Amino acid sequence: MPLSAQLSKLIGSGQESYYLVGLDQKGLNLPGVVRNMNYYEEVNIDIYDKTIACHPLIDACNASIAYRLLEHFGIPCAGKSVLDAGAGSGQMCRFLKGIPGLIIEAIDVDPTTEDYFRRHPELKDVPFHCVDILVEDIPKHYDAIISRGVYHHVPKTDRPRFIKTLCEHADLVIIADEGLSEYSTREERRRNCDGWYSFIIREARRREIVQLAELETEFWKHEYLETAEDGGDFKESPTHFIEDAGRVGLVPVSLDRIGPWKVGGGFFTATFITNPSS
Ligand SMILES: C[S@@+](CC[C@H](N)C(=O)[O-])C[C@H]1O[C@@H](n2cnc3c(N)ncnc32)[C@H](O)[C@@H]1O
Repeated sequence: MPLSAQLSKLIGSGQESYYLVGLDQKGLNLPGVVRNMNYYEEVNIDIYDKTIACHPLIDACNASIAYRLLEHFGIPCAGKSVLDAGAGSGQMCRFLKGIPGLIIEAIDVDPTTEDYFRRHPELKDVPFHCVDILVEDIPKHYDAIISRGVYHHVPKTDRPRFIKTLCEHADLVIIADEGLSEYSTREERRRNCDGWYSFIIREARRREIVQLAELETEFWKHEYLETAEDGGDFKESPTHFIEDAGRVGLVPVSLDRIGPWKVGGGFFTATFITNPSS
C-alpha cells in the first residue's frame, strides 16, 4: 500500500485523506527533502510563517519561553541582550519585542531568512547574522539565547555540540522544541509519531490550515522512510534531549512539557543557566 494511503488510514478515514492525496498529486519531493542548510528552499518562508503562527500549542510554547526568560532576568529587564538562534521567519524576535527594552539580534544559516528580515516591517531593524551555528562563530556573548523549533532539524549526531555552542555564548539558554513522548524502541517511537502527527494533522484540518497539514505529513513520512535523522526533522523525547546535553556536561535547570503528551508528543522548553551570578 502506498505510504500516503498508510498514513491516511492512521489519521482516520474521510476528509483527512484529501490532504495526503493532494500532497502527492502536487508532486512534492519525499525522501530527504528538508535539510537544515536550506530549509526554505523546500518550505516557502511565507507559508512557513503562517502555518507556524497557527501551530497548535505554539502560543503556550511562547508563554513558557517568556516565563523562563523573565524568571531569570526579572522585571524590568531593559538593556538585556537576547539572540534568537535559528530565527527562521523571526516570530520569536517579534514576540520578544513586546518585552520593553530588550536588545534583540537574530542568527540563521539560510540566506532566505536574512532577506525575509530585511523586507519585514517588524524585523528590518533587528541585527541579523547569517551564520551556521555548527560551523561558524556566534558573533558575541549574550545575556540570553533562545532557540525555538531548531533542535529537531539539527542532525542527530551534531545535537550535543549545538547545545554546547549555545551555552558557550550566553548566560541563559532556552531551547524550545516539538518533542515525542518517551520511547525505548523504534516501534514505540513510531507509535508516538503516529499519535502526535495524527493529532497535529487533525487539528490543522479542524482549523482549516491546509498547508500545515501538508507540511506535517511531509515530516511524518520521513519517519517511515527513515530519512528523518540527518537533519530532516527528527523529533526527540525530553529524556533523549537531556542525554544529548549530558554528553557535553550540561544539565537543564528546568524542563517544561506543554501539550497533550499522552497522544505521543508535545512541546518542551529546556532552560540552561551557564552563569549563575548573572
Ligand atoms: C523550523 S525552523 C524554526 C524557525 C524559528 N526559530 C521558529 O520557531 O519559527 C528551523 C530554523 O533553524 C535554522 N537552522 C537550522 N540549523 C541551523 C544552524 N546550524 N545554524 C543556524 N541556523 C540553523 C533553519 O535555517 C531554520 O530557519
